[in-house]
Amino acid sequence: MKRQFSQNNSSTERQQLRKQLLAARQQVSVAERQQGGQAIARQLLALPEMQRTRTVGSYYSVRAELPTGDINEKLQQQGHQLALPVLHPVVKNHLLLLAISDATGWHSNAYGIPEPQLDCRHIVPLAHVDILLVPLVGFDLIGNRLGMGGGFYDRTLAGWRAGHFPQLQPIGLALDCQRVERLPIAPWDVPLPRVITPTKIWDFRS
Ligand SMILES: Nc1ncnc2c1ncn2[C@@H]1O[C@H](COP(=O)(O)OP(=O)(O)O)[C@@H](O)[C@H]1O
Ligand SMILES: [Mg+2]
Repeated sequence: MKRQFSQNNSSTERQQLRKQLLAARQQVSVAERQQGGQAIARQLLALPEMQRTRTVGSYYSVRAELPTGDINEKLQQQGHQLALPVLHPVVKNHLLLLAISDATGWHSNAYGIPEPQLDCRHIVPLAHVDILLVPLVGFDLIGNRLGMGGGFYDRTLAGWRAGHFPQLQPIGLALDCQRVERLPIAPWDVPLPRVITPTKIWDFRS
């Protein structure tokens, strides 16, 4: 029998899983997290599709998230165009990607996350993004993703799932402790085709 998504049961279960996974991530030492970020940077940059200049949407890691500092720095060193998200100034709960450079000004958004100063000239539409690095709290063996609960990346990727940006390749980044066997999912959750952890590249395509 097909299991129906039940909003209440499932959202409680998701909330509990989020708590557990965030606690597990918190237990990982700063050194291990840093090494994890470096191991992911190596695997990402070695991908065949990264062997020519790309536009890469990334994010600025905070708290116990997998540190993206090394990843972002290496992407720029290798000549890729880096774009980072800002909270959309008009459309609530949506993200905009902004191209960054050495001249970029920074400020902290409402969540305390550093973001580039909003400048319309630097907006990178998803149609121009080759790789989108996606933060996550948990992922499962078929690529389902659990985020922080804001639904930002589900909204960002809704158009991609509908086939609008065929060039775009989302890649989740995570520590190995963020993997679970199966996540309870909701209809709006967009599963990821790939996730990179410090130990391997998880490919859920095919
Ligand atoms: N494409 C979308 N359009 C409208 N609302 C969405 C969309 N994706 C997610 N949401 C809303 O965002 C909220 C959080 O989504 P959820 O999947 O629980 O968070 P996360 O993916 O961050 O773990 C949900 O209540 C959902 O209604
Ligand atoms: Mg979701």
